[in-house]
This record gives sequence, structure tokens and C-alpha cells, in this order.
Amino acid sequence: MTTEFTTRITEAVVDSLDGTADPRLRELLTALTRHLHAFVRETEPTMAEWEQAIGFLTATGQTCTDTRQEFVLLSDVLGVSMLVETINSDGSGDVTESTVLGPFHMTESPVRELGADIDLVGDGEPCVVSGRVLSNDGTELPGAVLDVWQANAEGYYDVQQPDVQPAGNGRGLFTADDEGRFRFRTCVPSPYPIPTDGPVGDLLRSTGRHPYRPAHIHFIASAEGHTPVTTHIFVAGSDHLDSDAVFAVKESLVQDFTETDDPPLAREFGIPSPFRHARFDLVLNRDPNSDPNAERP
Ligand code: BEZ
Ligand code: FE
Repeated sequence: MTTEFTTRITEAVVDSLDGTADPRLRELLTALTRHLHAFVRETEPTMAEWEQAIGFLTATGQTCTDTRQEFVLLSDVLGVSMLVETINSDGSGDVTESTVLGPFHMTESPVRELGADIDLVGDGEPCVVSGRVLSNDGTELPGAVLDVWQANAEGYYDVQQPDVQPAGNGRGLFTADDEGRFRFRTCVPSPYPIPTDGPVGDLLRSTGRHPYRPAHIHFIASAEGHTPVTTHIFVAGSDHLDSDAVFAVKESLVQDFTETDDPPLAREFGIPSPFRHARFDLVLNRDPNSDPNAERP
């Protein structure tokens, strides 16, 4: 039901924001008010539905702890995290596309030598991930830093199983060599469900959605004078590539983990043959504000 009051109240709330000193905050609150009011006018929730919505948001907040961020998860499953990430990332075609950070980058990755194995348990199918970190003009980026993290072969991060997995399992902080090359050993990741024991799980169940993410490895790549990128590589052929619970798959990030039977190469990598091998380059955008001639500290 639309009455004069239901539109007048929107203008009254917007007018009440006139004193907001920060213009960006005023812009955000004004748009939030207009969109929220339009949603309510369109859907006309009953009082019971409104109370249910407040109860859901209250439970979402109450589920958050130092190691669990249910609001981020809610933003993820509603596609908002990917929208914000993509709007803020470099849209040009020649740099590596970004995707969600996710909630499991909550601990510092241990520094590891190039070629090290991040699978500290050795419980999965062995694989090597290798490639180069490049600038968007094609030059290699020696000394680029790669922060890597992934779930184990059963689909759990170390922080989810502190009594089962050693801290740092599936994680590594690597520095690219003089030619911008990197490589590390790991196990082929598996698809896994996002946490479903909280309000976000209730939301997925009541909408008939599954909680799975396709198999992936997370990266944050950074290099001096370049904009860092937060991304994943997804395992080609993985289940759920077309229905990621958090909508984070971009075609360019799907990589082959090729079955490789090459004993000399396996020896070079210190891995039994055959093994799976994912090769890809990470391309970063030169930061236009950085001075390439500036002296290093
Ligand atoms: C992850 O890939 O770690 C993740 C991302 C978003 C929500 C839950 C998990
Ligand atoms: Fe993940």
C-alpha cells in the first residue's frame, strides 16, 4: 500500500542527513535510505517477517567471534563481496583478475623457500604449482611476494582443525626468484562446503542452495610499484565451478592441473612421478603513482 506518508518519510530521513559533515558518508547513507525504503514499499513485509529479519541479523552478529565472521559470509553468499571486489579491481584485460579474499586468511603464512611443500601432512594427491609474476608490460618481477593458502585434501583449512592439522598447513609466503619465477609443492585441493552451522547455513537451506566451493588455491601477489591482487586459481574440471556458493569463479582463473609423467622434471621438483602440475602467470598492474626511479628505503 503506497500512501503519501510512505514516500514523505523517505524524504524526511534523507533531509535529516543534511548535517553529515563527510560528503561521502552522506551519499552512502542517502542511497541506503532510498534503496531500503524502496525495498520495503515494494515487498510490504508483515510485522512477523520484519521481526524474523531482525532476528536473523541479530543471530548473524552473535555468531561472529575472533575466528569467525558470519557477516562476511553473508555478504559472500549474497554476491556482495564479489561485487565490491570486482568494482574495486583493475578492469583492464591484461592483468590477473581478482576474486574474494574469503574468511580463512586470518593467520600469517609461514615464510617458505621456493619449491617447498605446503602440504605438511602429505595426505593428498601431490602437485606442483609454478609460474611467473609479471608486470602488465610483460617484464618479470623479481622479488614479488606470493601469499598462498588452501584447504587440505579433505576440504578443511588448518584454522578449522587446530587439533588435527599443524598450524601453517596449506600456507606459504614465497618470494619470486631473479626472473620473477615461483614454484611450490602441495596437494590437489578439493571442493569444500563453507561453514553451515550458523544463520548463513539456515539461509542456504531455506533457499535450497548447496554450500560448496569448487577446488581452489588462494593467492595474494604483490610487488614493488604494482597494485597487489587477491585471487584464486580454480582446478579445471572441479565440481561446482558453475555454482560456487560465493559466486567467485572467473573463467580466466580456471587452470589445468595436468597429469604429468616426467621423471626428470619430477626429480627437479623433488616429487614422485607422475604428479599434477598447474602452470600459470600472475600479472600485476604497474601503480601509476609509484616512481620507478625512487630510491629504495
Ligand atoms: C574461501 O574460499 O576460503 C571462502 C570464501 C568465501 C566464503 C567462505 C570461504
Ligand atoms: Fe578457500
